This record gives sequence, C-alpha cells and structure tokens, in this order.
Amino acid sequence: MQIVKAYSYQELSKKASEIVIKAIAKKPDLVLGLATGSTPLGLYQLLVEANKNGEADFSKVKTFNLDEYAGLKKDNTQSYHYFMQENLFSKINIEKENIHILGDEGKSPEEECKIYEDKIKEAGGIDLQILGIGSNGHIAFNEPGSSKDSRTRIIKLDEKTRQDNARFFRSIDEVPTHAFTMGIGTILEAREIILLAGKSKKEIIQKVISSQPIPEIPASFLKLHSNCAFIIEE
Ligand code: PGA
Repeated sequence: MQIVKAYSYQELSKKASEIVIKAIAKKPDLVLGLATGSTPLGLYQLLVEANKNGEADFSKVKTFNLDEYAGLKKDNTQSYHYFMQENLFSKINIEKENIHILGDEGKSPEEECKIYEDKIKEAGGIDLQILGIGSNGHIAFNEPGSSKDSRTRIIKLDEKTRQDNARFFRSIDEVPTHAFTMGIGTILEAREIILLAGKSKKEIIQKVISSQPIPEIPASFLKLHSNCAFIIEE
C-alpha cells in the first residue's frame, strides 16, 4: 500500500484526477469503479473540466458504482443514482448503457447482486477503483465485521454510518437501514485501487496503517492488494 500525501483538499482531488485521466488516455474503454460521498466531489469536478477541455473522453468508459441505499427510489435526491447523475454523469460524454449502479434491475436483492458481479466480469473486471473511507473504516458499505472474501450483497448499515450520513437527510429516521454494496473480495479484484481520505479521516487512516488486515477495520484488507494507493490530506 502506497501513501501519497496531499496538503489540501484541492491537491488531493488533483492527484486523483491525474490518475484517472492518465488511465483513460492509456485505455479509452477503461472500466472505472466509482464512489459517492463528499470526498470524491472535487475529483468529479476536475473530471468534468477535463472532459470539457478535451483531456478526458468518457465515450467508451464503463463505470460501476460501489454501493447504493436499499429502498430509495432512483430519483430520491439522497440516492446514489441521483448523486452520480448530478455530480458527474449528466456533465460528461458517458453513454447511458455504460453506467452501472446497484439495484437497477427490478429483481430480488440476491439477483441484483449476482447480476452486478456478472456484469463486472463481462466488462473484463474493474481496471481502476476509486474508494472513500468511512470513519468506522468501511469501504463501500462493507461495515466492520465484513470478511475479506465478501461479495456484492445487501448489508445492514452500522449505526455509526447512519449517524455520519444523517447530515444529508432531514433526520436520522430517514436514513435507510440497509444498502447494496460490492464486497471486499469484489473490490480487491480491481487491478488498481486509489482510496481518497480528507483531513477528517486522520484517526481511522492511522488505525488502518498500524493494523493487520482484520474484519473490524475493513479498509485494512487493502493492504493485501499489490497496486493500492491511499491519497491522504495532511
Ligand atoms: P465521505 O464518505 O466521503 O462523505 O466522508 C466516505 C464513506 O463513507 O465511504
């Protein structure tokens, strides 16, 4: 695991955007894993600018999002479908059929998860995965206790995650109790991973750095990956 230090949120976003832009230049049909939350917003803004300037062409890029709340409609403003549309997809030249977000098939949760895994395989696997980190060490919605080999599934959200995300809802009672998430095993199969962590994640990043890979700190399993960088704001 490589640690890359950034001295501002802008620098963190810039470093991440350079990695994504280079990867698309090298492989125009890149399979890109995407994250939601506050952390990647700066990266998405820079990707939108790069697309406008002709520095990044998304016309052949395929995307797979990490997770989605269970039980929220796509047009709910708190859904990750809505978030991605608002912050990235509506502003770049990506093809609709190349966008993948969990919970889209109108099938049972188990079938949705199986179809998602199959689609990632059909696309040839994820080339570059963007990750954030929860204050409890989750990656995607793999909450503490998730195993290294876990696959895409429905998970009960940790109370800490519901509290952290309540800021986006009118009250904590509106925060869904369950979510779809790619598994840790699924994430570890990506060829390259970059995890972005702003200043507020200092404490959990220290824990990840000093810990062995353990289910209590899901992000610690990233230490098992041979091409993973943490871009952290100091
Ligand atoms: P944040 O969320 O970027 O909004 O802090 C990260 C996460 O929970 O994975």
